[in-house]
Amino acid sequence: RSVAFIGSECYPFVKTGGLGDVMSALPKSLAKLNIDVKVIIPRYKCIPQKFQEKMEYRGSFNMNLCSDGKQYYVGIMEYQEDGVVYDFIDNDEFFSWGNPYTNLIDDIPKFCYFAKAALATLNYLNWTPDVVHCHDWQAALVPLYLRTCFQDTDVGRAISILTIHNLKFQGIYDRKKIQYWSGLPDYVFNKDCMIQNWLDANMLKGGIAYSNKVTTVSNTYAWEIQTEEYGEGLAEHLRYHNNKILGIVNGIDTDIWNPATDKLLAADYDEKSAIKNKKINKKALQESLGLDVDEHKMVIGLISRLTNQKGLDLVNDVIPGIMDEHTQVVVLGTGDSQYENTFRYYENKYKGNFCAYIAYNENVAHNIYAGCDALLVPSRFEPCGLTQLIAMRYGAVPIVRETGGLKDTVQPYNMFENTGNGFTFDRYESGLLYDAINRAKTLYFENRKSWDDMVIRDMNKDVSWEKSAKQYKDMYVGLTPRD
Ligand code: ADP
Ligand code: GLC
Repeated sequence: RSVAFIGSECYPFVKTGGLGDVMSALPKSLAKLNIDVKVIIPRYKCIPQKFQEKMEYRGSFNMNLCSDGKQYYVGIMEYQEDGVVYDFIDNDEFFSWGNPYTNLIDDIPKFCYFAKAALATLNYLNWTPDVVHCHDWQAALVPLYLRTCFQDTDVGRAISILTIHNLKFQGIYDRKKIQYWSGLPDYVFNKDCMIQNWLDANMLKGGIAYSNKVTTVSNTYAWEIQTEEYGEGLAEHLRYHNNKILGIVNGIDTDIWNPATDKLLAADYDEKSAIKNKKINKKALQESLGLDVDEHKMVIGLISRLTNQKGLDLVNDVIPGIMDEHTQVVVLGTGDSQYENTFRYYENKYKGNFCAYIAYNENVAHNIYAGCDALLVPSRFEPCGLTQLIAMRYGAVPIVRETGGLKDTVQPYNMFENTGNGFTFDRYESGLLYDAINRAKTLYFENRKSWDDMVIRDMNKDVSWEKSAKQYKDMYVGLTPRD
């Protein structure tokens, strides 16, 4: 089987969140299962020079996009690694900006162009995949192009799959502008497909209608998004397409996230050396972040985009209650200034015990996963969540809200049977997060043996892509090709 992944980010080239991780790790795991995989992403200017230098020019052509009569340049730059071929779509007009997303009107032509150019590239390269696997709204027009302008071309034979990593982002913009820029036929602009309301069109909604299969990144989320509470306005549309929705939980790249070989850590460790060596990492973390150096303190981490999705208002509510002379909190993230400033305020208030590292920094992230005792993920909603998986792999006990992938991957601690992987709470309430953190603190300070057992259980838990990649493969194989 051959599959083309189409999406807007992929680690290590460009990553703003978990989508970048999945676009990188899943293709690698599929390649190991003998699937021929190609990944197509934009060639953003922000891709580090060391990768830009290694890309090879594979060709170029011109393509029409909308009715402006203009020909748009499509360059193909290629790079190969670990059995995966990466094709970068090159066009300075669209991809020379610093940040991949602007949340502005410019995103319309950019992602119309990207979706169309990706399919045209497959034809140009004479590489007809069995499956075109698109990710999130930035690639959601692909299934529509496939069944309209590309229907009678080679790539038109492919099956399309759309994976929703985050339903919050749908690509909703002025319908006239989307209609103009996409050049899609008028008949897709109806209320069951692209139309959101009389002013706006919705790219993800159209993609859901036109793809052969829709997947989400956990089972619970696949179900949640069909309810009004989590459906982000598309619950009814999703319920209508219910028979083609499937949840497959994410994994993580266990080569990149491996505490036994991680070169960024003060001390590497496996399950046997974890309890001892995590203390060395804790001290190194405290030192480097300017916290009081004390291995006996419980360090609670938070690594997150600082947005409304991540449950940060709950965190802000409970901080005064959980800070004491035995507890430290480390926050790594960037995002809404309201959250950034509240964390800065706490850093100042709890000097030596609270760190607000307001940045996006992969190296610091590795050191926090290794050096902290527990990691908070109290999200309002969470399609899958990767930080709790990385935390478990690094022996940091997750404290999570039971929603989406958090519910599917973190089994609550059971004190009678000594089972479970972390501490969980259900309703979105500060009091419940506060209780969960206190349960964690109680176990940590009063029953260290059981705590350490949980650390080891977490490290032994399978968070790799192995099982889920097989599920994707089964899905690809199970779909009947179009001939
Ligand atoms: P989302 O995709 O919603 O942001 P995920 O949990 O799926 O959430 O993925 C987040 C990814 O981004 C993880 O790999 C996490 O380590 C990383 N990450 C988030 N914030 C930062 C940051 N400030 N610095 C470094 N890595 C971060
Ligand atoms: C999204 C979600 C996150 C998920 C990631 C990768 O960004 O917010 O929960 O883990 O995509 O699928």
